[in-house]
Amino acid sequence: MPLQFNDASVTVAIVGCGGFIGSHLLDAVLCRTKWRVFGVDVDFYRIQHRLNDERCEFLNADLADADVVERIAKYPVVVNLAAICIPSRYMAEAPTVIRSNYDHPAALAEACARSGAWLIHFSTSEVYGRTPADSAELEEDASELVFGPVSSSRWSYATAKLLTERFIAGLDGLRWTVVRPFNFVGPYMDFMPGVDGEGIPRVLANFSTALVRGEPLKLVNGGKACRTFTSVFDAVDFVFALLSSGDKGLSQAFNVGNPQNEVSIAELADRMRRIYARLKGLPLESLPEPEVVDGEAFYGRGYDDSLRRLPSVKKAENLLGFRAQVPLDVVLEESLNWFIGHYSYAAD
Ligand code: NAD
Ligand code: UGA
Repeated sequence: MPLQFNDASVTVAIVGCGGFIGSHLLDAVLCRTKWRVFGVDVDFYRIQHRLNDERCEFLNADLADADVVERIAKYPVVVNLAAICIPSRYMAEAPTVIRSNYDHPAALAEACARSGAWLIHFSTSEVYGRTPADSAELEEDASELVFGPVSSSRWSYATAKLLTERFIAGLDGLRWTVVRPFNFVGPYMDFMPGVDGEGIPRVLANFSTALVRGEPLKLVNGGKACRTFTSVFDAVDFVFALLSSGDKGLSQAFNVGNPQNEVSIAELADRMRRIYARLKGLPLESLPEPEVVDGEAFYGRGYDDSLRRLPSVKKAENLLGFRAQVPLDVVLEESLNWFIGHYSYAAD
């Protein structure tokens, strides 16, 4: 029986509700439905405007806590977004990254199997591994999943995510759906280093930071790797398509991506420089030229990369009628506009 958006008796648990995707999903659930939300996170700065909402109960707690896991699994629908998912941490903090992306979600999956909750678990497009530059479209149930050697600790995150997928798929009685996001981008993504976070954020936030600070954009290994960037608003629409699909999404893994938005990182840098110059009314030539940097020098020993990640999106389209819509330049402009406004006080 599909969930009804106007059914005020439904409560959805969102774990990681204070994160980039979680904050957008929380807003959408509260705006588009009459549901209640049980939100769990260890960080609430993105959702200050929701903390007193009478339809929400928030718990500032760690998913590593077994009691917290049991509380979450009591709800009929559990969306799990909690994870360490910043590549700059995959090398130096591999054991912590693996616990975050395997131990904690596996315990939650077991609790959901016991309670009968529908677990919608966010995995990653990185489960496709070390894909080469000539990689074909990646299909959920057919593509090979190939990782680099253990010394390439970059794959700590992806191997943990993949093990969680296998664990979930093998658990007796669990009602599950796995989501494999392909580089979601949008307002509120990550942080500005030195202001509200430390280290290297994902590429959108890192390039935005460099633009706002007047520094060169860094092209890792020449910026030849390609990604298909997907608007976080499309991502939220996917979750709604899934939630309203009855049983069609059960026991399935879905790519969620926008193949129309494929670019190399060098091209992404070029587009972001042009959009930034236009938004600020600056001549393009006044912005510093991008700089090429070595991957291990930039991220640390053990860094490795996927050279192309192009999703097949047929499954989401056929089973759920979902297709991502937002063009790359639209989401880049929206994100840069937000970034400039949000961090203008901290530009220097
Ligand atoms: P994010 O870092 O912005 O959000 C994750 C949230 O989870 C944060 O608010 C964090 O505080 C919280 N969290 C982490 N560990 C926790 C714990 N132990 N207990 C409680 N809360 C915890 O990340 P995001 O971009 O919103 O990603 C959400 C999920 O989607 C992650 O599982 C990530 O691996 C997956 N994903 C995201 C993308 C993307 O493009 N954004 C791509 C692939 C996969
Ligand atoms: C990310 C993260 O692993 C996860 O958030 C997520 O699970 C995954 O994407 C996904 O979407 O499935 P990655 O795509 O490598 O992995 O993320 P970024 O850090 O945004 O890097 C994208 C590309 O830009 C990489 O080739 C990286 O080397 C490059 N890059 C990054 C630069 O050239 N310069 C930078 O300043 C930052």
